[in-house]
Amino acid sequence: MARVETSSNRPYHLVIFGASGFTGQFVVEEVARTVSEGPKGNLKWAVAGRSRQKLEKVLEQAAAVLSKSELRSEVDIIVADVEEPDSLAAMCKQAVIVLNCVGPYRFYGEPVVKACVENGAHHIDISGEPQFLEGMQLNYSSQAADKGVYIIGSCGFDSIPADMGVLYTKDQFKGTLTAVESFLTVGSGDDGGCIHDGTWQSAIYGFSDGQKLQSLRRKFNHKPLPSIGSKLKRRGSLFFSNEIQQYTVPFMGSDPSVVKRTQRFLVEEHQDKPVQYGAYAGIGGIGNIIKLMFAGMMFWVLVKFSFGRNLLIKHPEFFSFGFFSKAGPTRKQMDESSFQFAFYGEGYTDGQDPSQGKPNGKICTLVQGPECGYVATPIAIVQAALTMLNEPTALPKTGGVYTPGAAFAKTTLTDRLNKHGGRRENVQKIINKDLTVYS
Ligand SMILES: NC(=O)c1ccc[n+]([C@@H]2O[C@H](COP(=O)([O-])OP(=O)(O)OC[C@H]3O[C@@H](n4cnc5c(N)ncnc54)[C@H](OP(=O)(O)O)[C@@H]3O)[C@@H](O)[C@H]2O)c1
Repeated sequence: MARVETSSNRPYHLVIFGASGFTGQFVVEEVARTVSEGPKGNLKWAVAGRSRQKLEKVLEQAAAVLSKSELRSEVDIIVADVEEPDSLAAMCKQAVIVLNCVGPYRFYGEPVVKACVENGAHHIDISGEPQFLEGMQLNYSSQAADKGVYIIGSCGFDSIPADMGVLYTKDQFKGTLTAVESFLTVGSGDDGGCIHDGTWQSAIYGFSDGQKLQSLRRKFNHKPLPSIGSKLKRRGSLFFSNEIQQYTVPFMGSDPSVVKRTQRFLVEEHQDKPVQYGAYAGIGGIGNIIKLMFAGMMFWVLVKFSFGRNLLIKHPEFFSFGFFSKAGPTRKQMDESSFQFAFYGEGYTDGQDPSQGKPNGKICTLVQGPECGYVATPIAIVQAALTMLNEPTALPKTGGVYTPGAAFAKTTLTDRLNKHGGRRENVQKIINKDLTVYS
């Protein structure tokens, strides 16, 4: 049986690996803000990375942002490099949980997971790369279970809001929820918004390697999930969504993969009924469709060749119409940005048999939060870690490789996220007759 041992003689509850990265620096700030939420109101933590100098600077910057005179006296520095296994082992031996912010994970992730499993540290990451996430599940599940270690992937904006949002919607529905579609919309202020180059690189390598993901999935040899209720129809690759009143495309991130893995876990471990899931993202009006088609076509062509990938990596701003940039968003852009997920679910109300006829109930849940990549993501990974530390008995009984929904379904993670920047409104309405109306 796995237990998160918070009173062990490991010096740190949390070690932030990759603390000097664009995202890592905001994770550092978020941990510094929440130390009082650690076990017994205290959190022992350290920052780690390959450059001591950069880590010193990150701590100085975080202290300035939080109006503290300094952080260095309460936060230690660990020098560790993915290329040096001994340094990773030494880091992992000192941590109860490693928060891994070093990406692209397809290149740098596995040695860190391996070192955590071998040295008894739990591991939480913010990867949005299904190939890495599912590969770790395939290769490390049984070793992690033997060692009593939790390896929990995709604990950032990819894919905590989607995974926990589906579970929340299911909990709120009075009956058997059988299908959910989510619609993501992102808002920004006058300066617009953008995403840092680190995520752009992860996406480039992910798309260029799509076929490997298919062959990896075959290795699991999964049985199809039981089909409960009407089959959820896939929408087209571009459509006008009445739900969010704008043009919409299928969401290309890790959410569908993560939600499906969570549903499989709940079916296999808890004999739950699975929820079918479709993920979509709003893109706005006609102008954006033209930009997206143009950028998408260039991307699909270039990503196939190493010359093209190099071009994409060198010029993120140009090839993404400014949506990705080497500098990342400014603090003002981040402060003025936000996201909303609308989850539209359908199912069979209490007393109705899901194997008979069409769904007779609908539900809509809204999940709202701050800027996705560098405000919501640090909040999500830090709250995931604090949940592990504070609620060890609510985690799955054995160690293993888990999605956020599988790991945190029985915890208060959703409430913690609400308290820290998410706004969640349940606008459930069960409609028995008129299936076309949501409110
Ligand atoms: N789930 C989400 O919604 C979400 C949101 C944001 C980011 N992310 C993901 O997080 C990852 C990081 O993104 P980012 O924008 O922060 O990228 P970044 O700024 O390039 O940061 C990468 C980090 O990895 C470190 N690193 C690289 N090679 C290393 C090595 N050999 N040993 C030790 N550390 C090494 C870098 O250290 P140096 O500082 O020494 O170069 C840096 O700290 C990406 O995979 C991105 O997709 C996910």
